Amino acid sequence: MRFSKLLRNVIPGLIVGLAVVVGVSLASPRPSEASKGQETFKGKCASCHGPDGKGQTAMGKMMKVKDLGSAEVQKQTDKELSDIISKGKSPMPGFGSQLKKAQIDELVAYVRELGKKEKK
Ligand code: HEC
Repeated sequence: MRFSKLLRNVIPGLIVGLAVVVGVSLASPRPSEASKGQETFKGKCASCHGPDGKGQTAMGKMMKVKDLGSAEVQKQTDKELSDIISKGKSPMPGFGSQLKKAQIDELVAYVRELGKKEKK
């Protein structure tokens, strides 16, 4: 039957292709939680909070955002920070509908990194 012959020719190619893709993705270093958070942060949060989380943007200044690395922000628990990110804190919009739980956790990890940098 022609169809089965086709399958026999195609499937090995697919398997090799898949093996290459898996191999490459395993070989490349896995980004840390915080660095993935940083990527999301640049895309979704930096317009107000600034790429460094200090809030020195036009929007950030207008809304008087706090430095995310400051003690005032850092003293909040991970739960509190992830709630703010998912539900928002007026005037900040919530991101729960756009971001997955894992992405919000990554953002919290990134915010913690900002706190570490602050202390020095
Ligand atoms: C439209 C501008 C805007 C965007 C976009 C935005 N924020 Fe905010 N964010 C704010 C403002 C304003 C506050 C301060 C709210 C307050 O304290 O009244 C805030 C507060 C916060 C806080 C709590 C800090 C505090 O004041 O205790 C965290 C954490 C935070 N934002 C994280 C994020 C993350 C992560 C993102 C991206 C997913 C994000 N924000 C996107 C405007 C924004």
